[in-house]
Amino acid sequence: MPARIIGTGSALPEKVVSNQDLEKLMDTTDEWIKSRTGIEKRHIAVTETTTSMAVEAAVRAMEDAGAAAEEIDLIIVGTVSGDMCFPSTACQIQSAIKASNATAFDINAACAGFLFGLSIADAYMKSGAAKTALVVGAETLSKMMNWEDRGTCVLFGDGAGAAVVRSEEAGIISMVQGSDGARGNALVCHNREVNNPYVKNSCALDYTSMDGQAVYKFAVKTVPLAIMQALDQAGVSADQVKYFILHQANIRIIEAVAKKMSQPIEKFPTNLQECGNISAGSVPILLDFVNKEGKLNKGDKIVLAGFGAGLTWGAAVLTW
Ligand code: COA
Repeated sequence: MPARIIGTGSALPEKVVSNQDLEKLMDTTDEWIKSRTGIEKRHIAVTETTTSMAVEAAVRAMEDAGAAAEEIDLIIVGTVSGDMCFPSTACQIQSAIKASNATAFDINAACAGFLFGLSIADAYMKSGAAKTALVVGAETLSKMMNWEDRGTCVLFGDGAGAAVVRSEEAGIISMVQGSDGARGNALVCHNREVNNPYVKNSCALDYTSMDGQAVYKFAVKTVPLAIMQALDQAGVSADQVKYFILHQANIRIIEAVAKKMSQPIEKFPTNLQECGNISAGSVPILLDFVNKEGKLNKGDKIVLAGFGAGLTWGAAVLTW
């Protein structure tokens, strides 16, 4: 049986940083950021960590689902900004919530991380290997930004979103994923360099760098295609979809996708205005906002779509 989302949760850092706040830190303007991206503010971690936000989001999702920790048999976290190389963020969540029956691991599919995680959970459920899973997207991207590079740091924020998914009759109808490693240079953050008794490197950690226009062109071309492919496989028309919950990178990308799909922009909820781009966290956080606003009814058809570094992309059609 497929995976069905039965509860959602999210957690954002307390500190809110507006575009005006950034004007005081660097040579930028509210007008530039808003007109190019739609972003007005973002939450930035001061006391929070990737794990603390992931745990908070997971606990809220479990409360929303009415799921107990011992029922969780799979925990998947999409993240590129875990607090530790190991243990994984997923294992740290397992420990915090005492989900002792779960198998837990992280995946790196950047901003498509939640979609990739959902597809793995769906495959586990269809094979009978899991019944109730936590799928989480959690990021502290602010630690990976060069705060002197105004072209990237203004775009991103921190936060976590989670969903409890359960093997049920109706749920995910179709999923499409893809990757194009050949174009990976468009969005890059290096890890530690080789450093051992035979090679001496500085071991300084790198920051995020991006070819913004290349990423933009990739997104507006690939996302509508992936969504249309997923809709086609599901036998669901775009008109039947209540909401398209897209990765929150840029309002212009979302508008372009809506236009390409001939769908009204009202069907594309957004929270990038207050959250910026939270990579793997964006889709589950927005899904939680929409869910908690009471906008989703049982039986609604929903599309989720993510895209980002890799390059990677994923789209899902599901019944709420
Ligand atoms: N404030 C003010 N000026 C800025 C700025 C900032 N924060 N960041 C860049 N600029 C300047 C540039 O230096 C450049 O100046 P120049 O013309 O004097 O060289 C000018 O603005 C235009 O920059 P450009 O990069 O051409 O702008 P753009 O129209 O392509 O918009 C992005 C930049 C990043 C907003 C846009 O390319 C984008 O959104 N791309 C997608 C990125 C994305 O979503 N990434 C994550 C995917 S998961």
